Amino acid sequence: MCGIVGAVGARNIVPVLIEGLSRLEYRGYDSAGIAVLAGNSIERVRAVGRVAEMQTRAQAQQLTGEVGIGHTRWATHGGVTESNAHPHISRGEIAVVHNGIIENHDQQRQHLQSLGYVFESQTDTEVIAHLIHHHQSQGKSLLEAVQGAVTELTGAFAISVVSIHYPGQMICARQGCPLLIGLGEGENFIASDVSAVLSVTRNVIYLEDGDVADISQSQVVIMDATGAVVERTVHRSDLSLASLELGPYAHFMQKEIYEQPKALTDTLEAIIDDNAFSPALFGREAEEVFAQVDSVLILAAGTSYYAGLTAKYWLESIAQLPTSVEIASEYRYRKSVPNPKQLIVTISQSGETLDTMEALKHAKSLGQNLTLAICNVQESAIPRASKLVLYTRAGAEIGVASTKAFTTQLVALFTLAATLAKQHGRLSTEEEQQYIDGLRHLPGSVQFALNLEPQIREWAKAFSNKFHALFLGRGMHYPIALEGALKLKEISYIHAEAYPAGELKHGPLALVDRNMPVVVIAPNDALLEKVKSNMQEVSARGGELFVFADADSHFTESEHVHVIRTPRHVGVLSPILHTIPVQLLAYHAALLKGTDVDKPRNLAKSVTVE
Ligand code: F6R
Repeated sequence: MCGIVGAVGARNIVPVLIEGLSRLEYRGYDSAGIAVLAGNSIERVRAVGRVAEMQTRAQAQQLTGEVGIGHTRWATHGGVTESNAHPHISRGEIAVVHNGIIENHDQQRQHLQSLGYVFESQTDTEVIAHLIHHHQSQGKSLLEAVQGAVTELTGAFAISVVSIHYPGQMICARQGCPLLIGLGEGENFIASDVSAVLSVTRNVIYLEDGDVADISQSQVVIMDATGAVVERTVHRSDLSLASLELGPYAHFMQKEIYEQPKALTDTLEAIIDDNAFSPALFGREAEEVFAQVDSVLILAAGTSYYAGLTAKYWLESIAQLPTSVEIASEYRYRKSVPNPKQLIVTISQSGETLDTMEALKHAKSLGQNLTLAICNVQESAIPRASKLVLYTRAGAEIGVASTKAFTTQLVALFTLAATLAKQHGRLSTEEEQQYIDGLRHLPGSVQFALNLEPQIREWAKAFSNKFHALFLGRGMHYPIALEGALKLKEISYIHAEAYPAGELKHGPLALVDRNMPVVVIAPNDALLEKVKSNMQEVSARGGELFVFADADSHFTESEHVHVIRTPRHVGVLSPILHTIPVQLLAYHAALLKGTDVDKPRNLAKSVTVE
């Protein structure tokens, strides 16, 4: 969602803040701002729109400073206006940036107004600034004021605070939202995401919930929720700066679609090297945990949820374990029947999606402690709260629409199904070898699918002038139809729905006419003939069909039936391969419509609010 960055140094840190914010912009992009300490005052620059606009203003104002904080916003409380953009300042003395949501902001606002504080914005963040100021005016130091204020706030937050009375100091606090400290030479930094500090340091400390950190140029002191000074591990980030750059690509989404063969190869490295599915891939305790498991519950949101829906087919058919898949935000608010022998699998690219994190906490509160996270971001909150972890190695995903994270999640989940099957005595040695061979060849097959781009670009023309589209699939390709529809709607703003093809006649067929393109995912599998019958139902109503088939599914093209064939048949891994064409279709439809592909309207990467 929002992104925060901060720096304390002995040089002008404004360029560091601006570069950090541009790296964080993919997380939230409706407004941006920075504030620096300048003698006895705070200087602030804010702008609605992109970081580049704020940067132009900062340059015009010749903003400089050695201590400062910055923010990119994705509006939650209050509209997209300059006065709602962060940093927020209290009485000219204290500046605050904030990620997350303060749930008791209404009560706090009333209390602070009764104390004479005047609010200039509609945000919950301004409450934090005034509350800290109020504590400081009671004679507390900046550190004590922040420590006092956070105990009065409920909700999830990561904050960073500077005060004109403490010119060489920055205090930050974390409760439920990610925050890290970047350790420099004679300078230190904070950020919500490691990408924001990579150009200045690779040595980072991830704060834990409840931590408050006192940061100066020369030292970092971290206190836990009880106020006790604690040591936190210093990690060395191996995220490459190149992975954060566009390189020769037009958009991050395009780059990330094209990175899939490598992302899959990297994620599969250990399995291919060992030539075996081994519980050790999931952590030291995995063998013991997997032995107890009698069923699986998958919790996730959005695209990650669709990865879960696909995995259900593999987990039930290969591992023969009953599997349910639930939208995280629904699961956490309903009464369910806990089963302590059930493996709780959370899937999250970012590892910080609030809905998924809260669903995991809810499962644990019900005594469901056999937890596994499939995640792309090292050391993020969800894997840290789980017993077992399998990290996908997709690399940084900057495009808001998830692409390479999804296909790597799928191979991770397939690996889970095969590993559970093996441990439960349901996978023969021949099957294991067959699956590993399939995985070994998958990146090559994905490369072949990417080569279909010119044909798919042509097809996109038939979508870019339409208002609606239907996606159909059956069996394990139904979740890929869902994913194709989600990709199309989120980046091209064309309304798209997905149905299991057999459901068409139960209602949605009424929508079909010449203006409703129908995409069908129809590789050769046990349901192919059924899909062909469903397609007849569309053709008979004048619908235009766009069929993604594979080398083995025989279709005859006609004026209203268009077919693109992925060159290889990859059996049970076919959902992964058929994701590529639907990603490319959405990408090209969006390009033709001229939307902002990497930063679609109203959306943000890493959804850390409810
Ligand atoms: C869609 C998309 C979202 C995310 C969802 C969960 O392209 O990216 O639907 O999949 O917000 O995010 P993670 O996987 O980070 O938990």
